[in-house]
Amino acid sequence: KAAAIRPPVVWLHFSECTGCSEAFLRTPDVGGIILETISVEYHETLMAAAGEQAEKSLHDAVEKYKGKFLCIVEGAVGTSYNGSYGKVSGKTFLEIAREVIPKAAATICVGSCSAYGGIAAAAPNPGGYKGVKDAIGIDTINLPGCPFNPLNLLGTILKYLDNEKIELDDYGRPLFAYGETVHDNCPRLEHYENDEFVEEFGSKEAELGYCLYKMGCKGPETYNNCPTAKFNDATSFPIQAGHPCIGCSEPGFWDEMTPFYEE
Ligand code: SF4
Ligand code: SF4
Ligand code: F3S
Repeated sequence: KAAAIRPPVVWLHFSECTGCSEAFLRTPDVGGIILETISVEYHETLMAAAGEQAEKSLHDAVEKYKGKFLCIVEGAVGTSYNGSYGKVSGKTFLEIAREVIPKAAATICVGSCSAYGGIAAAAPNPGGYKGVKDAIGIDTINLPGCPFNPLNLLGTILKYLDNEKIELDDYGRPLFAYGETVHDNCPRLEHYENDEFVEEFGSKEAELGYCLYKMGCKGPETYNNCPTAKFNDATSFPIQAGHPCIGCSEPGFWDEMTPFYEE
């Protein structure tokens, strides 16, 4: 069914590191998704076109599929100084967001940058960076994470194609992916409950896979499905690899969740 519909997708890049596009490219069978499930009309990292030709692709797609395309946004929007902290083809991110996003059927923010401002919005935030909703006042489906998990984008698109209602939490995150904390499904939960903690990286306790709470783990306050969805074709996720969760899917995590490590 999804293959027959192939919704047109316009993927905008604002202030970001492209890590979320990189994560997307590691989705199993990403070629099949791009060629058979969705129709990517514009994506600055993936498209062959450049310069004026790329700019023409964007405007042609937005006009041709007005009210029908899915807009996927990666990156935060600068709002200070009329948005002059970031431009593409002479237009500020703010101008592009205001011009393109209201014409989409729906907007999905991938990564914490487009959802809530991400690292660009970290204090002191001289560029006045914000997530898309706060920058232009349009409701978005937010798939935060730094990077986000591409499986959650697939789940969202498939539900959208099936006309399924996507229940969101107060921060615009779909409950099917962000309804539980990392801690709720953590493979180290039993150690937490047994008071078995790592207190030093490289220690015997670290080798035994004990709980990382005392190393600064933010899993108990962080809503995301990393322990079950995992990354890189379900290979691993930070805590499985021995690193505490830094709360990367929570709004303002660069300010609110730091210091990431306990001394
Ligand atoms: Fe990069 Fe993180 Fe922003 Fe994704 S959310 S674009 S990984 S900084
Ligand atoms: Fe919870 Fe973090 Fe410990 Fe896992 S490692 S059980 S998420 S505190
Ligand atoms: Fe981010 Fe924590 Fe998952 S750091 S990737 S939400 S384990």
